[in-house]
Amino acid sequence: MAFMLAAAASAVGLGNLWRFPYLAAQYGGGIFLLVYLVLVVTFGFALMITEVAIGRHTGLSGVEAFRTLHRRFSCIGWIVNLIPLIILPYYCVIGGWVMRYLHAYLTYTREGRIAEIAGDTFFADFIAAPALPLQYGLLFILMTFGVVAWGLKHGIERSNKILMPLLLIMALAIAGYSLLQDGAMEGLKFYLMPDFSKFSYKTVLGAMGQMFYSLSLAMGIMITYGSYMRGEDNIEKSVRQIEWVDTGVSLLCGLMIIPAVFAFSGGSAEAMNAGPGLMFITLPRVFANTGYAAAIGGVFFTLALFAALTSAISLMETVVASIHDTFKTSRAFACLVTLLLTALLAVPSALGYGVWKHVTFFTDMSFLDFFDFLSNSVLMPVAALFTCLFVGWIIGPHVIINEAAGLRGFKHPRLYVVMIRYVAPLLITIILISSMLSGLGLFKI
Ligand code: TRP
Repeated sequence: MAFMLAAAASAVGLGNLWRFPYLAAQYGGGIFLLVYLVLVVTFGFALMITEVAIGRHTGLSGVEAFRTLHRRFSCIGWIVNLIPLIILPYYCVIGGWVMRYLHAYLTYTREGRIAEIAGDTFFADFIAAPALPLQYGLLFILMTFGVVAWGLKHGIERSNKILMPLLLIMALAIAGYSLLQDGAMEGLKFYLMPDFSKFSYKTVLGAMGQMFYSLSLAMGIMITYGSYMRGEDNIEKSVRQIEWVDTGVSLLCGLMIIPAVFAFSGGSAEAMNAGPGLMFITLPRVFANTGYAAAIGGVFFTLALFAALTSAISLMETVVASIHDTFKTSRAFACLVTLLLTALLAVPSALGYGVWKHVTFFTDMSFLDFFDFLSNSVLMPVAALFTCLFVGWIIGPHVIINEAAGLRGFKHPRLYVVMIRYVAPLLITIILISSMLSGLGLFKI
């Protein structure tokens, strides 16, 4: 139970609410959805089983777990530890965006400015403001830090058990409402019907990165949670349940946002490519249309804030724990270092659409996009590749199969072996190489 709750709370977050819909819009709707689903049930399933089994087998987390399995391979644990440190700061910046909207919905009614939030430039003005995004980002970091440092976690977890289902019910209602609007059916078609002409290696890379991110894979989290699991618990079944919940929530969030983009912005190429701002631009329009913008916006962003907060808390705890373990510092010192690093790294992400707009990476990536790309499209595939090779060829898949088999047996051992030894490593390598070559401009699909 502790495992399921921890895993589900860290799985469901901004990844589902904010990241999944904008990627689905950007990468061609139905085709992205299809690739994503295929990856979740094959590769994602195998990788999550692997991580959970490593955790339960060793009873340890991160670097220590890898070191115990083979003393020369603790380096995999190092890469894995670096990832949450890169994700956390920009996650908090997005958390800050959620706070900005919540604040606006709560105060603008009094000032009679509620219509502004759904205006064309509200989002663009906000992220381009000189200091505002940073202030909200830092506020979100401090909230997260408060919970992690003073152990208020239980309270948050308890409230989450009520708030999370409420968020889902609300998302369902919003999705239903948007689907009834003119033009929404076009959006539904775009979202659900795969258009194979839009398929490219980018779809696969995008979907793969999103899968790692959303399921909290390839960053040592599931290893840690697996170490909480008892011997008699069924790993396959738990993993399947987590995947169902997480994927279901993502699908629902896409349903809430994509048809609405068609209904309220006509589904133009520009609207579909809005990128990280998609949710923040689309939802206020839906809320304004209902006539109850202040109430609906206020409740929705409160619930979203909680979903973001629980994920940020477990991300921050992971960073604290790895600093604490690796450098043998006190926990208080590790907390302080984490706070400083997070705040520092959040600055470029928060200001990257405003004062530091002129700094771009590769083709037009802002700081936030860059950190997101670095973690999800580079480091996580590399960590996953190493994990697969390590399990497939060094310690042997039987270690995982035996661990996962427990009392009930493991359903598809052969499939698992083929997946972890050949299919997954090959897929990751091909995707990584083609994205690097095309990044360097040597290759184009
Ligand atoms: N899965 C989380 C989400 O969908 C984000 C996330 C990635 C995360 N890695 C994590 C959360 C580690 C907690 C711990 O929003």
